[in-house]
Amino acid sequence: MEKVYIETYGCQMNFADSDVIAAILTKDDYAICEGAEEADFILINTCAIRDNAEQRVRHRVRELRALQNRRHQLRVGVLGCMAERLQSRLMAEEDNVSFVCGPDAYRKLPELMKEVRRGVSQSAPVSAVELSETETYADIEPVRLSGNGISAFISIMRGCQNYCAYCVVPYTRGRERSRDPETIVREARTLFEQGYREVTLLGQNVNSYSWGEQDNTVGFPDLMDRVASIDPRLRVRFATSHPKDLSDRLLEVMAAHENICRCIHLPVQSGSNRMLKLMNRKYTVEWYLDRVEAIRHYLPDCSITTDVIAGFSTETEEDHQATLELFRKVRYDYAYMFMYSLREGTYAWKHLADDIPEEVKKRRLNEIIALQGEIALENNRREVGREYEVLVEGVSHRSKEQLFGRNSQNKVIVFDKGDAVPGSYRRVRVKDCTQATLLGELTQ
Ligand code: SAH
Ligand code: SF4
Ligand code: F3S
Repeated sequence: MEKVYIETYGCQMNFADSDVIAAILTKDDYAICEGAEEADFILINTCAIRDNAEQRVRHRVRELRALQNRRHQLRVGVLGCMAERLQSRLMAEEDNVSFVCGPDAYRKLPELMKEVRRGVSQSAPVSAVELSETETYADIEPVRLSGNGISAFISIMRGCQNYCAYCVVPYTRGRERSRDPETIVREARTLFEQGYREVTLLGQNVNSYSWGEQDNTVGFPDLMDRVASIDPRLRVRFATSHPKDLSDRLLEVMAAHENICRCIHLPVQSGSNRMLKLMNRKYTVEWYLDRVEAIRHYLPDCSITTDVIAGFSTETEEDHQATLELFRKVRYDYAYMFMYSLREGTYAWKHLADDIPEEVKKRRLNEIIALQGEIALENNRREVGREYEVLVEGVSHRSKEQLFGRNSQNKVIVFDKGDAVPGSYRRVRVKDCTQATLLGELTQ
């Protein structure tokens, strides 16, 4: 039996996909192995969201040449968003890549790999990159590759058709489609029965999840209600929520279930209405702040996190100041902060100049990072003295004598282990903090 090593880059959805890939391969004639050294095939599941994500993958692919020189049977395949974006161009540019396979074609992987082995396609590149309007891998029970046995991702939909001007995802992942809710609930229940205590439902815009016909549609709030009802001991999280579609109904469902975690990732991208319009985000700063207020109203203890892009096309100092101002208003608990990266094929690539100099982008990004750092620290200082229920996840990397877990707000809390064990819920009081972590102690 040939051995396959899977390496994953990019977002949580890619990690969930790698688990589906492992399931498809192990059902066929392949075994998954733990290290690249022993592999007959190395599959790299890639991300195309920014240029630096792609450069990292290219670097890794080139590095694998040395291993291939030692193991002549070793073949390298590139999967995921970068494979979809570049298709056979990638094999022309990186000559040690034997095949590419896009996100909707993973069922074809065993066939592709056999073709590579037979060496039949010396002339035609071996690839499967068709996008699908229906594929959701709903029937496949993922093999959890990188899991801790406590927390798992469940993919509830695929694709995106929001076409934000800067974003490559609609081109790499295809049309938006939702997965049968029965299969989602079943997967979550099975995980719970196996001892998992947290699931995160994944989609590019979970608020537009929709299954079924007119009178009988299951929307995202309904789905959340069903998953949260499996067991109060199963925590439920979700990502990502597009601000344009965040409904009061979802917030009501969250408020009704204590096990739906008090944390909403609400990517804002910019604090300037002119930028939001140019980005095709379909909301204004006023709308966004109204949604933040609704969250605070229904879920007063909810944390809010975001994504932001510095230096999008034509961004002025004034636009940038508006972003800083918005950060001061919302006071995010965490933010993923990026410099704008022009992506081939997007609306921005066709119609908008990438006209903000690199050093200006960098400086603006650094200003956002510095401000967010101060805010996160101030937010965390307010947590000192409070007590939380923590789902214990594992041993802290600071010390073997300490464990870490998260509270409902998704904040990491580190504490002396006492008699606590991973996978259990424990009450922890916050004693101290850094910008990124709360330090606490068991209270019982
Ligand atoms: N579907 C999610 C985002 C997925 S991509 C949403 O709409 O919120 C994750 C983040 O990467 C985005 O929120 C955005 O902040 C960032 N991003 C996407 N394309 C980018 C680009 N071309 N340059 C820089 N950052 C980008
Ligand atoms: Fe990209 Fe926008 Fe879709 Fe998010 S909603 S994946 S940013 S196009
Ligand atoms: Fe990257 Fe594709 Fe996810 S581009 S962010 S791996 S959907």
